[in-house]
Amino acid sequence: MASAPKEPVQFSGAGPLNAPISGVLTWVDQRFPLMSLWRDHLSQYYAPKNFNFWYFFGSLAMLVLVIQIVTGIFLVMHYKPSAAEAFASVEYIMRDVPAGWFIRYMHSTGASAFFIVIYLHMFRGLMYGSYRQPRELIWIFGMLIYLCLMAEAFFGYLLPWGQMSFWGAQVIINLFDALPLIGPDLSTWIRGDFVISDATLNRFFAFHVIAIPLVLLGLVAAHIMALHEVGSNNPDGVEIKQHKDAKGIPLDGIPFHPYYTVKDIVGVVVFLFLFFGVVFFMPEMGGYFLEFNNFIPADALKTPPHIAPVWYFTPYYSILRAITEDFMLVLAIGVAAYSLLIWLTARNQLVKMAALAIGFVVIVLMKGGPLAIEAKVWGVAMMGAATLIFFLLPWLDRSPVKSIRYKGPRFKAALTIFVIVFLVLGYYGTQTVTPAGTVISQIGTLIYFSFFLLMPWYSAMDKTKPVPDRVTM
Ligand code: HEM
Repeated sequence: MASAPKEPVQFSGAGPLNAPISGVLTWVDQRFPLMSLWRDHLSQYYAPKNFNFWYFFGSLAMLVLVIQIVTGIFLVMHYKPSAAEAFASVEYIMRDVPAGWFIRYMHSTGASAFFIVIYLHMFRGLMYGSYRQPRELIWIFGMLIYLCLMAEAFFGYLLPWGQMSFWGAQVIINLFDALPLIGPDLSTWIRGDFVISDATLNRFFAFHVIAIPLVLLGLVAAHIMALHEVGSNNPDGVEIKQHKDAKGIPLDGIPFHPYYTVKDIVGVVVFLFLFFGVVFFMPEMGGYFLEFNNFIPADALKTPPHIAPVWYFTPYYSILRAITEDFMLVLAIGVAAYSLLIWLTARNQLVKMAALAIGFVVIVLMKGGPLAIEAKVWGVAMMGAATLIFFLLPWLDRSPVKSIRYKGPRFKAALTIFVIVFLVLGYYGTQTVTPAGTVISQIGTLIYFSFFLLMPWYSAMDKTKPVPDRVTM
């Protein structure tokens, strides 16, 4: 909510055209809080005046969400969610439906654009410490959105019923098979059949077009409400609410509308140029946005030689493939070292004991002979942990400052290495398995988790710079 005191609603009725408009607005406003919503979230929402390039991606994420929903509605008008007709209905959209190819390419490009925008949006959060107190809930809602987006993309990918749709879903659903005791029953339950079939396609369709989008919209609303409750962070990581004028307006704040609505339009125009450049000239993006194998109808009897998920999942896919039986010993040694580190540095006796006990149990489950769980299951667990660990960031970062501008060399180096490792893992996830690729993915996996798990130490030990009182321009 805007912190400034609310002024009474006033509509200027000057001019013959304004009078009816202000009359209508007054009528609506007496029945619905239209103007107070406008004021609280736009004209009197004071955002820091030093937003930079990295602050384009929140509004762009909203734009892509709208693009996906609108193009999705038009696709559903012609798409047939049945194993017998799905592939042909997509071809029909591409060839016969007026502008069908355009709508479909916007939707498929939009899926990748969504992840590009979201990864940059998350990276901004990492750079400026936007997940730190008091913005933990904004971050948590953001992470839930990210999980929903991954689910949305996964369910959507089965719908064209191409070879990659079929075999990609096969690989991911089979992962559940690895779970002890419930695995095989669980994967049958997810598929609704013993193989991926019409039943699977129908339920994925239901999730893709209604269940997940509903949750997504609710989460985006919660994300923005939480943001407007505490106010935006900024590249300096200073709280603008700490310095207000006599009217209670932050001295370093400017009204979101018109200043940032206009700024965001610039971002939207540039984004749309790039977006339509891809839609018109390279919608397949060399097989990264639309995989070549997916132009072949699904065939349960013909496994493609190389199955890889779409690029935005590949860092996690690399982690999954990195966890081999040989690698379990390295992981067990890593867990032992980490437990020891907590034991040596924690002040609380309970934490020390818990670290040793949990470490011991995990090592037994990794390498404890008959009690050990197979590497495949650990791969699934590590892949899940690699996404979920982002939730913990607000509590892992112990630096006295928020923004990377004032953080020390350790954090800067750690973040740079993390980004490189994320990209390297992403690259190897698109490639066929080779011994060298596996070793690189294994090293990448260790570095990936170290970035998070060692953060309480390196962020606290870092040599930070003094943070200014007010934002800098
Ligand atoms: C559909 C997806 C999303 C939409 C539409 C969305 C929208 C927005 C908007 C409009 C803002 C304010 C403008 C800006 O700061 O850029 C924002 C801020 C923020 N978002 Fe998101 N977001 C999404 C996903 C995420 C995800 C996945 C995360 C992280 C896991 C995240 C974390 C944040 C944080 C921490 C802020 C506050 C940034 C600051 O004040 O510095 N968002 N989001």
